Amino acid sequence: MLANLRVWLNHFEYHAEQPRGARSGATSGLRAEERRLIARSIATFQLGEQSDGTGLLRAAYRFALAHGDELLPRITELFIREEQRHARLLREFMDEHRIRAKCHHWTDAAFRRVRGLAGFELYLHVLITAELIGNVYYRALESVTGCERLKALCRTLIADELAHIGYESELILELRARRPAALRPLIRLLHRALFGAAACAVWISHRAILRRAGHSGTGFLRTCLEQYAFHLEPPAGWSGAAAESRRR
Ligand SMILES: [Fe+2]
Ligand SMILES: [Fe+2]
Repeated sequence: MLANLRVWLNHFEYHAEQPRGARSGATSGLRAEERRLIARSIATFQLGEQSDGTGLLRAAYRFALAHGDELLPRITELFIREEQRHARLLREFMDEHRIRAKCHHWTDAAFRRVRGLAGFELYLHVLITAELIGNVYYRALESVTGCERLKALCRTLIADELAHIGYESELILELRARRPAALRPLIRLLHRALFGAAACAVWISHRAILRRAGHSGTGFLRTCLEQYAFHLEPPAGWSGAAAESRRR
């Protein structure tokens, strides 16, 4: 059984009742030039946040059944609701500024295809990839806009995603520790390769905003990889129990 699921259930239940950024009160003030810069990019991220979560929930149920992690489906439901809220918040902002929503983008299609390939553990790897890179992007977006409402929205998303990253990284590292020692470096290598490819794809599609925020292509990749290392390459001797004591 996975450690700390009760703690995460409490976390997600609390934030379902007290969602972050619900009363930001920030005023909208998106200039026409900013709108041109961000419109297509933000619509792509809005599409990425949007999912009915059926595949993930099914994978969580299967995993829970196989491993006796009975809290996992409920946590996953609340997690999906939080992501759907992100999509809703971005959509509201887009509607206010007459930014058209997207129903297809190649990066989103690629993420969905990989996600659908296998079970819960692979889902976690794909989700954390999108969230780690997404957080570097939302920080960039926050820094390039003068619109207080968009800044507040970015900060809300970043705070929620940081918690998601904490949750997923803990699960990933715990599950990885159960794998044979000889296999772990290969899993890490494959995930880093997927992660690097995803960061490059995000750079290609969103480079206008990222450049405005001061990133070069290699600088963006480096920042993403630093985030990856911080959350997914803990010092030797790390364990799930260590994660628990870190949080106390
Ligand atoms: Fe999200
Ligand atoms: Fe997330």
